[in-house]
Amino acid sequence: MKIDILTIFPEFFREVFDFGIIRRAKLAKIVEINIHDLRDFTTDKHRMVDDRPFGGGDGMVLNAQPIFDAIESLTGTCERANYPKGTKIILLSPQGRVFNQSVAREFADEANHLVLICGRYEGVDERVNDALVTDEISIGDYVLSGGESAAIVLVDAITRLLPHALGSETSAANDSFSDGLLDCPHYTRPADFRGMRVPEVLLNGNHAEIEKWRKEKALEKTQKIRKDLLKGANRQQSTVISQHKTDN
Ligand code: ADE
Repeated sequence: MKIDILTIFPEFFREVFDFGIIRRAKLAKIVEINIHDLRDFTTDKHRMVDDRPFGGGDGMVLNAQPIFDAIESLTGTCERANYPKGTKIILLSPQGRVFNQSVAREFADEANHLVLICGRYEGVDERVNDALVTDEISIGDYVLSGGESAAIVLVDAITRLLPHALGSETSAANDSFSDGLLDCPHYTRPADFRGMRVPEVLLNGNHAEIEKWRKEKALEKTQKIRKDLLKGANRQQSTVISQHKTDN
């Protein structure tokens, strides 16, 4: 997977991908991440990337020209119909489709080249969206000053889903949301910390019981704080849910 990030703040990303799983994935050549300064694609002597909005209003709008040139340089074309297969041009903005685990999975499975365009909160010339963007993505219903922190979220969530990015393939399958539920609680040593004991079931080595307890706890936690997720839980979980309801 190749990920290109287009930003007016390249320094923002200086070390953020040099830790943990992303660093390992980069070293193992599972992912390649390149940061591009949008100003390098400007054509005027002041290297201007934004301008005042037509029609008036606050703030500045990112110009179309440097973004078109950058996309052409990165994909070989600025015609959406001609992008190489597996290319996704993603505009990060609060107006986009909301990112979640299944969108992360979709990108990890279907794409081999992502270009992340970091918008500014004032906006991006709409012709970028009209002509270039394949996916406009928001990381949640709140407004950030720019798409940079959202780009980091996408890179992290997608990279860890790429084959062999995690030590064990089962880890991603057990993550929160992968089965439509939140994750169960986890404990490590000591078994007694300041009088707070680890649930006995985790200490007895009975794997069937441990599995059952984990499912119940995941369900309990989801029911308590994210009821909305239960609607989307898969059929296997629905069975667990209805069973849980009849048990209680
Ligand atoms: N840029 C500003 N706010 C954003 C958000 N919520 N998600 C993605 N990009 C953004």
